[in-house]
Amino acid sequence: MKKGPINCINILCLNLYDAYTMPKIVCGIIGCTSDENVVPEVLGGLKRVEYRGYDSAGIVVAVNGRLEVRKGAGRIEDVEKRLKLSSMKGKTGLGHTRWATHGNVSDRNAHPHISCMGEVAVVHNGIIDNYIQLKEELLKRGHKFRSDTDTEVIAHLVEEELKAGRDYLHASLFAFKKLSGQYAVALIFRDMPDLIVGARKDAPLVLGVGKGKNFIASDAIAFIEYTDKAIFLDNMELAEIRPERIRIYRMEDGREVKKSPVQLAWEVADITKKEHAHFTLKEIHEQPLTVRSAFYQDPSKLRDFASSILTAKSVFITGAGTSFHASMLMAYRLRNEARIRSENFLSGEYRQFSQWFEKGTVVVAFSQSGETADVLEAVREAKKKGAMVVSIVNAVGSTLARESDIALPLNCGPEIGVAATKSFTAQVVVSNLVVDTILEMQGSLRNRADEKEGEILSRAVERVLECESQVKELVSMYSNKPDFYFVARGYSYPVALEGALKLKELSYIHAEGMPASELKHGTLALIEEGTPVVAINPSGENHSDTLSNVEEMVARGAHVIGISDEASKQYTHFIMVPKIESKYMPVVEVVPLQLLAYYMAVERENDPDYPRNLAKSVTVK
Ligand code: F6R
Repeated sequence: MKKGPINCINILCLNLYDAYTMPKIVCGIIGCTSDENVVPEVLGGLKRVEYRGYDSAGIVVAVNGRLEVRKGAGRIEDVEKRLKLSSMKGKTGLGHTRWATHGNVSDRNAHPHISCMGEVAVVHNGIIDNYIQLKEELLKRGHKFRSDTDTEVIAHLVEEELKAGRDYLHASLFAFKKLSGQYAVALIFRDMPDLIVGARKDAPLVLGVGKGKNFIASDAIAFIEYTDKAIFLDNMELAEIRPERIRIYRMEDGREVKKSPVQLAWEVADITKKEHAHFTLKEIHEQPLTVRSAFYQDPSKLRDFASSILTAKSVFITGAGTSFHASMLMAYRLRNEARIRSENFLSGEYRQFSQWFEKGTVVVAFSQSGETADVLEAVREAKKKGAMVVSIVNAVGSTLARESDIALPLNCGPEIGVAATKSFTAQVVVSNLVVDTILEMQGSLRNRADEKEGEILSRAVERVLECESQVKELVSMYSNKPDFYFVARGYSYPVALEGALKLKELSYIHAEGMPASELKHGTLALIEEGTPVVAINPSGENHSDTLSNVEEMVARGAHVIGISDEASKQYTHFIMVPKIESKYMPVVEVVPLQLLAYYMAVERENDPDYPRNLAKSVTVK
């Protein structure tokens, strides 16, 4: 596989992300056809796309004149063991990992689904909006359904078209044309065992071009181990995949589209855990590299982005979850340093602000996936009312990136752990670049040296990662506590929120983040002997006030873990972080909190990569 320096990966992200992360609705698909058994490829690929959903899994192969399906509820590893997936054999196969939308999590609702006569198998990522109507019609025509999913209608529709005498491609095409909603679909056929048909509308699908072996997947990481040549399907394209060739057609008129494969400058190492026990830990440790690559931005795009904010009549900044926390930091600097009034809102709460969206307004959206439903809804409303939308997004081929007037990439590579880690620190870097460009345009910042800043920041992150053993000790002391509090002031306040969010989602311990000033307005009542409190308290104007709050809490029995570039005896425990420019302090402050959440999860025997009830992209409202 091609090796390359980090900037090569960054450039690649443009290609890769086009294909690789557009998880409109989460679920992972992998398919392979070859002259040899493909089950190892399908099973391996399935494990790689597990981040897209992990409540059920299944495989289908075309073998000996039938379609053999094994599927069930549970994580892939469990299903694999229970149903002996690796003992399956077939030269063409599909795999699916599910995040339930229609139909509960159960064996019967796991994909793949098969048509009545056992002729067609389907896996699907997305939502078929008109499935109830289609199902009613199919039931009237005598079809028997074996699941409660929307997906199953596809298999029956294709079977109907085959019955009508159409060939496999036309039968698939005619069936797909009846669907409304979003889909990435792959089909295999009992009587055509060297064929996979795939198609997409508003959900990602990428084809892998191998030697005598071709692939289809939701994400190129599913097949990167076998080939680094990929073809990205565009919306409303249908692919005919055989072991020796791939053909692509426009669904609108059936005309063939010629597409050359692109080379993925990606290493298998980028999508494996390497020496780390989990992706989350690997991604935390990647940050010395990813904060540096976040600095690689197209200067003219950066200037356009900055000038759109500078010249706007009003500025709104939005995001959800971790991305919202990063967006708070940008709003803070715009107000305090650039003196630009900016409203910061949670995307899901956009209706509180939408009355002010109009021509001349700029909405800045933060998102790792670029597919978060709340964020998309907010920016679509803004666009509808004439506002400009600019975004900071990791998945450059995502819906948000495509629908934005300008999108700056995070360049931090695939984030597979469900909890956002390296995307947060990259967001801080990119938003700082935007604010610095604005300050430069305003004439208050001169002689910027981003490359040097990138290097300094990268080294600081390396240094702060050395606190790992200290964090492990804290985990052993506090892992049985039911509640944690995270407090900070000013520019570190979003870091307190982020620390609490990370701890909740990975360890399932209740946690609250708040301004240290708010403690006395109520929360102090909850502090008792041994209550753990994390105080993020960098040196500077807020330092002594927060230290007073620390004393107040310690006096009431709290065990305060101080995180700062300045040591103080008031803390029960202390983690020293390097002193760097204040605009980058959140980057070094958040790292111990990410580690705390990660090791807490491990200690409590949770899977940090796949927290319960969550999925990487929240594509539902
Ligand atoms: C937390 C986390 C979520 C996401 C949120 C927004 O670790 O991952 O809170 O930050 O769902 O997702 P994006 O950034 O993809 O829009």
